Amino acid sequence: MTSWLVTGGAGYIGAHVVKALRDRSEPVVVLDDLSTGSADRVGDAPLVRGSVLDAELVAATIRDYDVGGIIHIAAKKQVGESVERPLYYYRENLGGVLTLLEAAIAAGIGSFVFSSSSSTYGMPDVDKVAEDEPPAPMSPYGETKVVGEWMSRAAAAASQIRVISLRYFNVAGAASPELGDPCVLNLIPLAFRALTAGDAPQIFGDDYPTPDGTCIRDYVHVADVADAHVAALVHLDNGGGSATYNIGRGEGSSVREVLAMVADVTGLRTEPVVRPRRPGDPARIVATTDRIRADLGWVSRYALRDIVESAWSGWPHSSAI
Ligand code: WQD
Repeated sequence: MTSWLVTGGAGYIGAHVVKALRDRSEPVVVLDDLSTGSADRVGDAPLVRGSVLDAELVAATIRDYDVGGIIHIAAKKQVGESVERPLYYYRENLGGVLTLLEAAIAAGIGSFVFSSSSSTYGMPDVDKVAEDEPPAPMSPYGETKVVGEWMSRAAAAASQIRVISLRYFNVAGAASPELGDPCVLNLIPLAFRALTAGDAPQIFGDDYPTPDGTCIRDYVHVADVADAHVAALVHLDNGGGSATYNIGRGEGSSVREVLAMVADVTGLRTEPVVRPRRPGDPARIVATTDRIRADLGWVSRYALRDIVESAWSGWPHSSAI
């Protein structure tokens, strides 16, 4: 039986994908450089420690573990850092896709799932954004995801490989406390950190053209995101073709709504403070998820409360890092 190679499988989202596959008794091997991930997140899956840019290591892993499909999640993901170090992001993120696609094609692998992002859309002027919306990334990070999709699509058109790109919206929550997000970079963990330190959570701008003036995002539970990967693999395994899908709930929540839920779940009610807008933030970005529902039968199962409750249950672990 062949194995699934999960790159970045020791990271936050990757570990959830590994768990979802192991829950189905699928053989998995993880390739991760442990730059942000940790070995104790991969459960019983074998872990190869190293970089996705290491072509020899990638080829050896594919050979040694009889890899039959690849889920490529390993990447640099900090939007702000990508503005300061654009070439580093291009090298890491596009070097990784390139190395894996070349190795996959050389090994005759048919299935490839690529982690993309809602940041490929930039600031779409629509109520809900569909996959056909033209890309308009606003950071080098988003650019690497657009080009990664293009590279995958071109490689798929010219070889045996079929690629599904999954555009994640705002991923949060945890399937179990120990799998909580170890990085404190996004709204929910930042609010937890402020509140547990006795500080006020921050709202970056309350003068946007939205009902309460704060930005609206599509928050999706990481366990739902993991299930979308499984659905994509099943589809490819059954001979399904290449495609690009949004991974969101299709429902928007404002910063104030999220912070109200955080206060409700944690019982920590320090009033948020309003700060200036963060440059480059779209007022609203919410997914249309019709395509993945129609093609793969995937729909999100978890609501905002589940997302915040599960993130909070994982908080003591994540705050230790
Ligand atoms: C959410 C909203 C902030 C912190 C980013 C990437 C995206 C994807 C997900 C990787 C925004 C506001 C935040 C705070 C706030 N990442 N905010 N106070 O920017 O929507 O998406 O992460 O693939 O590509 O761009 O997520 O969690 O940073 O912000 O008011 O303390 O919360 O301004 O409106 P974002 P976020």
